[in-house]
Amino acid sequence: MTKHVRAAVAGANGYAGMTLVHLLARHPDVAIEQLSSRSLAGKPLASTFPLLSLEGDFLSEVDASKADVVFSCLPHNVGAAKAAGWLEGGARVIDMSADFRLKDASQYPVWYRQEHPAPELLARAVFGLPELHEEDLKSAQLVAVPGCYSTASILALAPAVTSGLVGSDIVVDAKSGVSGAGRSPGLGVHFSEVNESLGAYAIAGHRHLPEVMQELRALGHNGLRLTFVPHLAPMTRGILATCYFDLKGSVEELRGAYAEFYAGQPFTRVVPESPATKLASHTNFCLVHVGAQGEKAVVTAALDNLVKGAAGQGVECFNIAFGFDRGTALESAIQWP
Ligand SMILES: NC(=O)c1ccc[n+]([C@@H]2O[C@H](COP(=O)([O-])OP(=O)(O)OC[C@H]3O[C@@H](n4cnc5c(N)ncnc54)[C@H](OP(=O)(O)O)[C@@H]3O)[C@@H](O)[C@H]2O)c1
Repeated sequence: MTKHVRAAVAGANGYAGMTLVHLLARHPDVAIEQLSSRSLAGKPLASTFPLLSLEGDFLSEVDASKADVVFSCLPHNVGAAKAAGWLEGGARVIDMSADFRLKDASQYPVWYRQEHPAPELLARAVFGLPELHEEDLKSAQLVAVPGCYSTASILALAPAVTSGLVGSDIVVDAKSGVSGAGRSPGLGVHFSEVNESLGAYAIAGHRHLPEVMQELRALGHNGLRLTFVPHLAPMTRGILATCYFDLKGSVEELRGAYAEFYAGQPFTRVVPESPATKLASHTNFCLVHVGAQGEKAVVTAALDNLVKGAAGQGVECFNIAFGFDRGTALESAIQWP
């Protein structure tokens, strides 16, 4: 079969990048042509991907003039300065970082500590959550794939917000596995610091909060107030978002709203029991459960931060943008890490 889409992956040796390469390797219409890493430039791809049949070496930079699509798996602020060049080179760009998620350029110095290097591109970026933006993704040249916490939180709350069944402020209590922090070593992700321990962080405000607010407010709830507290859990992968708000209406009405909202969605499923992260592990599914404790709605969502929370969703957006079936290369589970 002809592999007619030439793909480049920038930051291919990180967790998101490696997951992406494994997914693309099974895509029948994609040829993986360029993988970049500063630290591995000149080293053989086979040393990082021994289970894949990839020939050649890592590059220090990708050349967009020789690619149809660039998947950027670089840290925030790094890919933003490169994206304009990739687009000018003729490639479409699917960005896993936070660089193009917020529509308001004035928010970047607040949350990402620097002015946006390419604010003129923000209006062109499509927020890469297919459950909300599938039509826009079909013609997108630049896709901003949402964060892992954001994907879980938005998918957990979108039907409630859309249906007007939220009767109070919302609290999102979210837990992440350690791979959510990336592959670079650091004290905060050191085994003996994380193992058998659980803690909250970024209590004053996590970077994913503004994108969650942006997307939920766009669903028609301008007065929305939301408290988001992330926690680091001693597990390799997974996000669990537990969301609380006062019910406006009955829990049956709320369940009906979720069933209707996600009818026909291939990767977000409303499930009868509150999901554990392990159920979604290595898959592109987001599993959502709708319950209540008295008059308080309790909605839980579980997903794999590296798949539906990053690379898998990136491939899903790519499939939509290039006219492939949305589930291509996403049918079965990735087994690493
Ligand atoms: N991990 C997750 O669960 C997750 C979920 C959603 C979104 N994301 C986003 O996806 C992106 C990648 O995350 P990750 O977890 O894969 O991170 P990671 O494991 O730390 O990988 C980062 C990648 O970027 C390269 N890199 C680092 N600093 C660079 C620089 N200054 N210039 C050029 N390349 C640089 C690294 O390779 P070299 O150092 O060899 O160049 C590596 O390939 C981030 O923007 C992250 O926010 C991650």
